[in-house]
Amino acid sequence: MTAPHRREFLKGLVSSGVAAAAASWNLTGVRSGHGAEPAGGADEIPVPLPRVARFERLAYGMFIHWGLYSQLGRGEWVMNREKIAKSDYQKLRDTFTAEKFDGRRLAGIARQAGMKYITLTSRHHDGFSLYDTRGLSDHDVMHTPARRDLIADFTAGCRAEGIVPFLYHTTLDWWQDSFHQDFAAYLDYLHKSIEILCTQYGPIGGFWFDGNWSKKDADWQEDRMYAIIRRHQPEAIIVNNTGLHERGRLGHPEIDSVTFEQGRPTPMDRRGLPKYVAAEMCQTMNRHWGIGVNDFAYMAPPQIIENLCACRKVGANYLLNVGPTAAGEIPDYESAALRRSGDWVRMHADAIYDGKPAGIEAPGDDFGLDADGRLYLLVHHLGVRGDANVTVGPTGAGPRTFTGVRQKVSKAEWLDNGEALKFEQDLPAGKLTVHCTGFPYGTNTVVRVVKLS
Ligand code: GLC
Repeated sequence: MTAPHRREFLKGLVSSGVAAAAASWNLTGVRSGHGAEPAGGADEIPVPLPRVARFERLAYGMFIHWGLYSQLGRGEWVMNREKIAKSDYQKLRDTFTAEKFDGRRLAGIARQAGMKYITLTSRHHDGFSLYDTRGLSDHDVMHTPARRDLIADFTAGCRAEGIVPFLYHTTLDWWQDSFHQDFAAYLDYLHKSIEILCTQYGPIGGFWFDGNWSKKDADWQEDRMYAIIRRHQPEAIIVNNTGLHERGRLGHPEIDSVTFEQGRPTPMDRRGLPKYVAAEMCQTMNRHWGIGVNDFAYMAPPQIIENLCACRKVGANYLLNVGPTAAGEIPDYESAALRRSGDWVRMHADAIYDGKPAGIEAPGDDFGLDADGRLYLLVHHLGVRGDANVTVGPTGAGPRTFTGVRQKVSKAEWLDNGEALKFEQDLPAGKLTVHCTGFPYGTNTVVRVVKLS
């Protein structure tokens, strides 16, 4: 966070309403008991609220962009980019069957991917709602052949699989004329929509808003909207995307996490903030959020793994997007890539979910994490060991030096196979040099993890 951002946040900050009640969604291994303690001084980092601490340990989530536009297969901005008239766009309602949309199935894929939450577009900029707006608008799923509340299906499916449901909701709206003509009336409509989501679907992990960047000078009445959430869903995380051009920017004091849309998250300077704010990077698997049937530029598992690591390096969550098909299922390639990277996440679960940055650094991409006192070193760019007949290129083996290791280390081993590694420690200097070996022939897990004890 830059200094001006911090100043602005501090200026705008009002007391942030201490979280009430016990956790409405609970996860194993989540430490509770932190209160909202304002920082004691300019250099102190505030203690996260329990809901924020829990959110950080969710670590990895699935973003789902899906709606009427998915039938066209040219991204979620297609109505705007191709200037499709409402009268034409509306026809997409007649063919929206959602026949393959299955909340439980989606949640199962997320679980296999090692993801702990899903953020689904309950309404995107085209104004179409995947939920029953109960008379607020006919531009919703109840006015399509699908005729079932998909947010009900989604939230129930998530809970059945132990996945925390989050809801994306647009604030920018291309459908409602009031958005341009009568902003006060539009906000009433928006707030009533949010109230439905807060009251009809049980505990929601969080609300992810997007679109305030479209009217920078408008009075969005954020106090009013967030008060609705705090009233009905005191444990929900509140996010309001600051967009592609203002990544990591702090906003309203109720916001629990900043966003780094499509970028590498940078470390947050939280010193002196009255409230601890989490960070989350959202990213597309190819170059579109809503399905682009002719977008082939997909990430493969190594990039997914490296991006997840880059996020955890700075304590940020990683929210990786999928764009389901017209009928509502995740495309084959996307689910396969997620499953494969999920195998990696499961192998390194303790480091990934509970590991926090603790000042353990190394040159290049390597870094260390501290999971409640258990230290892990994440080693990048290793090759496969073998001989000239079976492997190509360097193994990357050799010494890797980490700084900021303040605990006495008695053992260093690869987490995946328990192979002990030679090391030297200079405790007063906080220096630890580990002699890394390459991947055993037959394996290559992209980022390899050293466990210290
Ligand atoms: C942008 C886009 C939007 C997408 C979002 C996800 O704000 O407008 O289509 O949903 O990013 O981060």
